[in-house]
Amino acid sequence: MNGAGAPVELKTFERIVFFCGAGLSAESGIPTYRGAGGIWGKYRYEEYACQRAFDRNPGKVWDFHDERRRFVAGCEPNPGHHVIARVQARKPDTRIITQNIDGMLQRAGARDVIELHGSLWQVRCDWEGTVKNDVDVPIQSRTCRCGATLRPDIVWFDDSLDPHVVRAAIDAMTTADLLVTIGTSGEVFPAAQLPFIAMERGIPSIEINPEETPMSRLYRYVMRGPASSMLERLDYTG
Ligand code: OAD
Repeated sequence: MNGAGAPVELKTFERIVFFCGAGLSAESGIPTYRGAGGIWGKYRYEEYACQRAFDRNPGKVWDFHDERRRFVAGCEPNPGHHVIARVQARKPDTRIITQNIDGMLQRAGARDVIELHGSLWQVRCDWEGTVKNDVDVPIQSRTCRCGATLRPDIVWFDDSLDPHVVRAAIDAMTTADLLVTIGTSGEVFPAAQLPFIAMERGIPSIEINPEETPMSRLYRYVMRGPASSMLERLDYTG
């Protein structure tokens, strides 16, 4: 442990990869998906977060996502998001991979965030094959100019990840010199597999999570605590 009680000092690395999950945004007030108070404990994904539900009742699925937009828009990035954005500003080879769809890292100033599961703030027309930003709450129009129904550009259950996005994440893991995984249960694949690519290369790896996960034993270091204070400890530059 260094002076700040952290296993490593971020400033000694050049190609840090931050691999983020819902726990990163928990301190912003955004509920995680699993565990106590988790979104999937309150809403059945079969009714709100899969293509079949959307085909059956697009209005109901859109209402759910409009409500999520409204909620997330009322939350603020927390110190954990800001640490990550700050490290990236200092070290341009930093890569940020997130499973989150909330856009909080970007609001904290992070750039080029690799969004594995899409974004709450983008809509897609599967008929035209187009994606566009739409940050209105509620969404301006649920219908594309071509007449087809727009859908949130989110990777729902049983959807495939965008291969270009996966490629970018693999490349980041392949060149990283430090892996910092934050606030993910490690239960959703293929995302949960990505850290193995970095770990297999023998680079230092850190898991930040207040709770143990199925992946914890694979990390060289584990920091048990909330994302914001653990990230601040890692970024201690004194
Ligand atoms: P989960 O809800 O599965 O896990 C959240 C993790 O965050 C748990 O391991 C918690 O212990 C941890 N956690 C809670 N509070 C924390 C805090 N303050 N600081 C750090 N960690 C904390 O969320 P994900 O692993 O991100 O998909 O879930 C993966 C995917 O499943 C999501 O991207 C989502 C969901 O279905 C989509 O939205 C498409």
